[in-house]
Amino acid sequence: MLIKNGFVVTPEDVKLTDVYIENGIIKEIGPNLQYDTDIIDAKGMYVMPGAIDVHTHFDLDVGIAVSTDDFYTGTVAAACGGTTSIVDHMAFGPEGCNLNHQLNVYHKKAENTAVIDYGFHGTIQHINDDILEELEDIKNKGLASVKFYMTYDYKLDDYSIFKLLKRAKELDLMITFHPENDGIIKYLKAEYKSKGLLTPEYHPLSRPAECEAEAIHRVLKMAQIIEDVNIYVVHLSSNAALKVVNRAKEDGYKNVFVETCPQYLTLDDSLYSKEDGLKYVMSPPLRAKINNELIWKGIENGEVDTVATDHCPFNYNIEKQLGKADFTACPNGAPGVELRPIIMFSEGFMKERISLNRYVDLVSTNPAKLMGMYPKKGIIKEGSDGDIFIIDPKVKHTVKHENLHERVDYTPYEGIELKGRVEYTISRGELIVNKQEFIGEKGRGEFLHRKNIVKTL
Ligand code: URP
Ligand code: ZN
Ligand code: ZN
Repeated sequence: MLIKNGFVVTPEDVKLTDVYIENGIIKEIGPNLQYDTDIIDAKGMYVMPGAIDVHTHFDLDVGIAVSTDDFYTGTVAAACGGTTSIVDHMAFGPEGCNLNHQLNVYHKKAENTAVIDYGFHGTIQHINDDILEELEDIKNKGLASVKFYMTYDYKLDDYSIFKLLKRAKELDLMITFHPENDGIIKYLKAEYKSKGLLTPEYHPLSRPAECEAEAIHRVLKMAQIIEDVNIYVVHLSSNAALKVVNRAKEDGYKNVFVETCPQYLTLDDSLYSKEDGLKYVMSPPLRAKINNELIWKGIENGEVDTVATDHCPFNYNIEKQLGKADFTACPNGAPGVELRPIIMFSEGFMKERISLNRYVDLVSTNPAKLMGMYPKKGIIKEGSDGDIFIIDPKVKHTVKHENLHERVDYTPYEGIELKGRVEYTISRGELIVNKQEFIGEKGRGEFLHRKNIVKTL
């Protein structure tokens, strides 16, 4: 495939040039390339390395419900939005199960269904000597990162977290974690319940930003004691949390990285008092509006490293209604996998908050580096995979759920005005999305054997 006449975004610059892909690999970049092959005319458009979403929850069984996108519908939606690789956070398995248990379950879920390349983060639900030993095995099987939770059913206590961090340092794993102080949440939820305060407005009040900040602070203090553990904070939602990370950096801690999500940049907690407030029940919750701009600032000045989605969809009219009489019974999560690249392009680049190079860093290059996929993924360079998405910045449109491919009955971004549209998505040299239409084959996605995380961003 030959992509002609586009503005190609490389880490250093943006240049008007052509890109030739052969056998799925980028073979040549240069002006006026001539090859007898399929041609995409990208005149007036931006040609960028395939977007990478390192935080999805496809087919996630949370006990009371299962997230509605599986590895087929979820990856089709992702592809339609310009995403060519995802890394999914695996669900908890049966009590006491080992790490390979969930890995096997997830290989079965994704193989023959995913349409773009996919990887998995290991999920740690308890710690003992066998699990610590097994971490090396799953690392060798392509899991360069694992996640633990500080709230929910299988949260780790501090003793277990400390043991895990020690072992992660030995193995050079990337540690990701859901940071919220469980005790405070439990207390506040019970207090609101006892007073009959059960509408969605009490969801953010039961999980204040300080819960997030405290949990991050605790993990970073442990990491400072151990030194040089790779720490990746997922779904950062508040300025309070960002300040804690910045403080650790000021104290000299280098290996800490921050992910945020479009919902924490564009939506706020006023939505919980609307009639359809259950749509926004996610954890961490949406915050007071001021946080949007403060996290954008963090993006602009390099304090935030990646933008993922935490895509975890439940239908508003079905699963979300479990929380109708009591917000604590509502399955947590919201969709977003399809719109992340274009929201960040429109809100970030087109609104002149960030450069195109910084945009590509956030949605593609940095996730590839930190999660062990670089330079196979995350860059337009000779020898890298031919994963590319192309945006036409001239097309203006309004987000409408009916135009999306996510298998869920709403989008939290309904009505947002966007500048730019994803016109083409190419995965390993194959055109899989042509003008909003998915034309690839089910099951064409390949497992990403992730290794060698790169920490210089
Ligand atoms: O509410 C959310 N985010 N649900 C998905 C699981 C998680 O916490 O990442
Ligand atoms: Zn989480
Ligand atoms: Zn998540």
